[in-house]
Amino acid sequence: METTYPSAQSEGSRTGSQLLQVEGLTVRFGGVTALEDVSFGVRQGEICALIGPNGAGKTTAFNAISRFVRPAAGTIDFDGTRLTDRRAADLIGLGISRTFQNLALWPALSVIENVMVGAHGGGGASFVAQMVGAARRSERDLRARAYAALELFGLGEIAFDPCSGLPYGTLKQIELARAIVSRPRLLMLDEPAAGLNHGEVRELGETMRRLRDEEGITILLVEHHMALVMDVSDYVVALDFGRGLVEGTPAAVQADERLIEAYLGGSAS
Ligand SMILES: Nc1ncnc2c1ncn2[C@@H]1O[C@H](COP(=O)(O)OP(=O)(O)OP(=O)(O)O)[C@@H](O)[C@H]1O
Ligand SMILES: [Mg+2]
Repeated sequence: METTYPSAQSEGSRTGSQLLQVEGLTVRFGGVTALEDVSFGVRQGEICALIGPNGAGKTTAFNAISRFVRPAAGTIDFDGTRLTDRRAADLIGLGISRTFQNLALWPALSVIENVMVGAHGGGGASFVAQMVGAARRSERDLRARAYAALELFGLGEIAFDPCSGLPYGTLKQIELARAIVSRPRLLMLDEPAAGLNHGEVRELGETMRRLRDEEGITILLVEHHMALVMDVSDYVVALDFGRGLVEGTPAAVQADERLIEAYLGGSAS
């Protein structure tokens, strides 16, 4: 098919209003250009997947949106707010929450304490300080919300157990519970299916749908698990070598030769 980006776009069933808009995003790490002039949008109420081979720049895009890295160029807007003018600490208050590619839980804290941390976001050593401060301010409310988030995953029974020693699939669910305790409008998930078994992946897909349909949460999903991506996504954006490659409905993107080429080329080199 002779199509050039972005003419392969099929906005198809995309109906929601624009919630997140990334425009001309460029990120460099020294001499490495991780993202070059990347643009894409996420609509209110959809599950939008960001896919691409290893090193394509997916996590870097997440890090730019959540203000962990400073772009060399480009703008990121969320519901009328220019995120590129804001700090990482503002994100939770604006209604954006994320998980990390590698688990970022505190093993010594209880399950519910780990979830409570999510209400105030932040990162690094300030996590615990923020949690303690927040807990003093509205301990009961926060605990109730954290418990409710855990119950969404059927984890109420282990709320007061320490995180250490729990199975990996459970830890991933706790991380998800933590990401939604702040009641985000946009939830950004970086490889939530990694390391999960078949049944857990199916459960994750159902959870994402429930979060979208019942909680009204818009989801931006980075994922290598193609069956999951094609199953749950309303829209797919593919990157390759830091550039936008193709975007459209799951069916359109899946059938696009450029995507197939990008994955085959990547695994062969
Ligand atoms: N902090 C950093 N310093 C230097 N280079 C980096 C940094 N973070 C990412 N990169 C580089 O930027 C490019 C994009 O990396 P990124 O982690 O965004 O890819 P990805 O699409 O998330 O890959 P994966 O699927 O393997 O997680 C890679 O070449 C990577 O080595
Ligand atoms: Mg990554």
